[in-house]
Amino acid sequence: MTYSRIIGTGSYLPSNLVTNAELATRVDTSDEWIRARTGICQRYMAAPEQTSSALAFESAQRAIASAGITPDDIGLIIVATSTPDFIFPSTACLLQGKLGIKRCPAFDVQAVCSGFIYALDIADKFIRSGSCKYALVVGAEVFSRLLDWSDRGTCVLFGDGSGAVVLGASETPGVHASVLHADGSQAGILSTPGQICGGEILGDPFVRMDGQAVFKFAVRVLDEVAREALDLCGMQPSDVDWLIPHQANVRILEATAKKLGIDTARVVVTVDQHANTSAASIPLALDVAVRDGRIKPGQKILLEGVGGGFTWGAALVEM
Ligand code: UT7
Repeated sequence: MTYSRIIGTGSYLPSNLVTNAELATRVDTSDEWIRARTGICQRYMAAPEQTSSALAFESAQRAIASAGITPDDIGLIIVATSTPDFIFPSTACLLQGKLGIKRCPAFDVQAVCSGFIYALDIADKFIRSGSCKYALVVGAEVFSRLLDWSDRGTCVLFGDGSGAVVLGASETPGVHASVLHADGSQAGILSTPGQICGGEILGDPFVRMDGQAVFKFAVRVLDEVAREALDLCGMQPSDVDWLIPHQANVRILEATAKKLGIDTARVVVTVDQHANTSAASIPLALDVAVRDGRIKPGQKILLEGVGGGFTWGAALVEM
């Protein structure tokens, strides 16, 4: 039996750090409000010329180096992003070109903040089926490009960044189970509803959100899907060493941990430092906790995401 295992992680944040206090000089908000309602203290913003594929390239190189393989070993590239460089070609193909890899399949997954979990699940299935030995799975976003700076209910919440993992074939399970869901009837509570037609944007090109509806939906499905993934592998919340939910709001993270009965000391939190980086947030948090020594080989990590669509999912991985 072939399984997949995370054998390398990497991440990258753009250099432009924007604190809440700086934001409050141009938006009708305050450091106190943002910290109290979201836990966010700061975020990083990409330079105008920095695209998602540029951020993806940096985190991918780090993940490949930490896996101890070369780019030529990669047999599949999936980039989870809702802020692709172009309508086409895909950001994954652009990343493949930057890495100098030829021929392997490369495609994007668009599941907004659940995108990394979707991409991980797909890559796991490629490896389990024997289609490839090593897969590069990246979450990369320049979400700041979608923000309406006159909408204080959304513009303070997001940041830019990228995180990546290399999955390798293994005789023992790394990814024990993963679960994906979507509910298109909830499309209206979080969306960027503009479209391109005849060379022009039709409609609204910015992130729009019913914050309270999203909050309630997120807390409910993050609990449900975590239990579903744990059930699939016959595990309990107490078996989990680290919980890494999508980093949207520290109150959502704490409510999720509480519902699952997982001590908040076992939750990896980066939303305070990175804000919400959408599809990048889970692999970014994973890489931070691997590199600072919190996450150790053999530990069990519960990754879970929720985002526009609505989409949600979870994966139980053993490092
Ligand atoms: O990846 C998934 C994406 N999104 C999320 O997960 C977000 C989920 N939702 C949330 O995190 C929260 O709903 C928010 C942080 C967005 C908002 O927090 P809230 O506690 O639900 O606040 P609210 O929307 O009920 O607004 C409370 C007040 C309002 O003023 P009034 O009507 O009470 O006078 C808002 O106008 O806070 C005001 N407000 C702000 N004040 C200062 C809203 N945004 C801001 C702001 N600064 N940035």
